[in-house]
Amino acid sequence: MAYKAAKGTYDILPKDIDKWHFVEDVCKKICTSFNYQEIRTPIFESTNLFIRSVGETTDIVSKEMYTFDDKKGRSITLRPEGTAGVVRSYVEHKMFADSNQPTKLFYFGPIFRYERMQKGRQRQFTQFGIEALGSKDPAVDVEVISLVVEILQSLGLKKVKVALNTLGDSESRLKYREALVNHFKPVICDLCGDCKARLEKNPLRILDCKVDREHPAMKTAPKLMDYLNEESRKHFEKVKQYLTDLNIDFVIDNQLVRGLDYYNHTVFEVMSEVEGFGALTTLCGGGRYNGLVQEIGGPETPAVGVAFGVERLILALEAEGVNIPSNNKIDAYIVSLGEKANDFSVKLVNDLRRENLQVEKDYLNRKFKAQLKSADRLNARLAVIIGDDELEKDICIIKNLDTGIQEEVALDKVINYIKNK
Ligand code: HAM
Repeated sequence: MAYKAAKGTYDILPKDIDKWHFVEDVCKKICTSFNYQEIRTPIFESTNLFIRSVGETTDIVSKEMYTFDDKKGRSITLRPEGTAGVVRSYVEHKMFADSNQPTKLFYFGPIFRYERMQKGRQRQFTQFGIEALGSKDPAVDVEVISLVVEILQSLGLKKVKVALNTLGDSESRLKYREALVNHFKPVICDLCGDCKARLEKNPLRILDCKVDREHPAMKTAPKLMDYLNEESRKHFEKVKQYLTDLNIDFVIDNQLVRGLDYYNHTVFEVMSEVEGFGALTTLCGGGRYNGLVQEIGGPETPAVGVAFGVERLILALEAEGVNIPSNNKIDAYIVSLGEKANDFSVKLVNDLRRENLQVEKDYLNRKFKAQLKSADRLNARLAVIIGDDELEKDICIIKNLDTGIQEEVALDKVINYIKNK
């Protein structure tokens, strides 16, 4: 039987790796300039952590988690998102007590969700995320959004839209919840089974339903904006003002509620608007989560963050036709003819590599022409040709593969010659 990658997983092949390096390099560079530091947390955590943080009634927890018992019967889950693990680590390592606050972190890594597969949606995918913990200043919400915009710009993505909403604080939410229940109750028998279950447990999530999206009651649903208390309204006004000050374009989307329960105040997503991208256009999503640190055992700590789907960023780069810088040229290919020359080339490639040069040689005992073809395929700048005759005279022939010009070079000068080229 021939094995295939498990459904919803895929291999990132060497031919595609430049795109990944490009995205990773840009994200890391911009995080550094915004003073975010990298954190790496485990790929699995105790299941409870995700139930507590992401929320029991969310699709992620109720349908999509890869959960299993370990050999001691402890329930373990492959992380279905990155924030919970980072917050767990923040509390466990008492980062709130560090003198530098807010704590600003970023991460890259695999995420697992048992979802229906389609373009831009896998069961194992990669998130790049950032979390800023320890400040309730709306300027930090805007810092996170401006970091996102900076990344998109540096990647060369132009056709993007920032959608913004507020969920208010818990007091505002409670009032809004009541209004939603009253609004949907009379029509609940028309709505899908998930919505029926959400009515009492989590009515806000009805607004996010993919099945009943077109139902007239969705369009006339009360808007949270009308239920915000003074503090929540002020926070949102500041966010909008700072975004405007920074010339960051955004649209207000009252339907934007996000798929995880820990949010309050600002929530946002960035969508790709390029044609041919496919149905799943959300490149990243995030927001404020002021109650989460306390929820999982830490002190009361306001926080805000965002995560990108890296595969979707790469799809967007392809759809927008962005030129990805690639490093696919090697410095030299050693063409050796004859046993002695081959023996010599083993040492020569090693010496050249020690000088940090990118060098390859033939390992298949191929003929002269085939070795030159290999050099060409590898985009080598130079071919260093050594036959047993050349070896006798302590020389080699170096051919510039761009110009075709060749020169005789003394063997003891080869390293310097290639370095200078
Ligand atoms: P999320 O919206 O669930 O948020 O996921 C963030 C991003 O991950 C999405 O915008 C999308 O690009 C990508 N994504 C989600 N599911 C898939 C999938 N099945 N296949 C490919 N890409 C996918 C979070 O996870 C929050 N932890 C974000 C956050 C950080 N909020 C605060 N801090």
